Amino acid sequence: MCDDHAWPQAGRERMIMPSPIAWIGTGASNPEDEYLARMDEKHVFMMGDNPALPKMPDRPVLLDFFRLRFNDIAVRHLLTSAKRALDDGHSEKIVMACLLHDISNGCFVRPDHGYWGAQLVAPYVDPEVAWAMQYHQPLRYFADESVGYEYPANYDKFFGADFELPAYLRRDAEYARNHPWYMTSRLVTMYDTYFFDDYPEVDPEIFTDIIGRNFRQPEEGLGFDTSPVAHMWRTMIWPNNFL
Ligand SMILES: [Fe+2]
Ligand SMILES: [Fe+2]
Repeated sequence: MCDDHAWPQAGRERMIMPSPIAWIGTGASNPEDEYLARMDEKHVFMMGDNPALPKMPDRPVLLDFFRLRFNDIAVRHLLTSAKRALDDGHSEKIVMACLLHDISNGCFVRPDHGYWGAQLVAPYVDPEVAWAMQYHQPLRYFADESVGYEYPANYDKFFGADFELPAYLRRDAEYARNHPWYMTSRLVTMYDTYFFDDYPEVDPEIFTDIIGRNFRQPEEGLGFDTSPVAHMWRTMIWPNNFL
């Protein structure tokens, strides 16, 4: 479909330096020296479109990231959460918060994913949506019997039953519980399940109109406006850039 010349840095091997966050603490050693030693006229560090990834449109919109970047599990999880909220008759705000709540896990960073996700979308959504996304992360750890939300059984498996929650998550959950938008975020946690094996596949296009009304897509495309988060979207477009 695309010949070599359609890609940047044509005719050379484009080396991918793993980001420190991907290897630090894993036992792998810092790969920088080894890669830097390979640099010559035939070996450069990747900048721009990576042929191993689908090409993004020049002006990407939200669903392009779902289709072309986010991993399958994240996409399925987000679409199912949002569809279940929609089927239960919740407002578009709730549906949007469910649709977006874990986007940071799609192809960005996992640690503090609720906080990163909220920041990614804050310039484009109602503040209540971003707030609910941020606080779903701490609220996930706290049961609320009044709405039938229990501590997730899979968290015991993920982290061990003796996992102790860090103070910042306790503090933020306490803050969220006393906030007028608490129930928006709580609903995100209630639709935040991975039991979707028996759930029919959800077509992302069913959310096109809701996104149109609730996500202020920048005219220049996500990643290319002047918002304070544009660089974060660019990192998802070009996750392998050297700098
Ligand atoms: Fe989450
Ligand atoms: Fe989730």
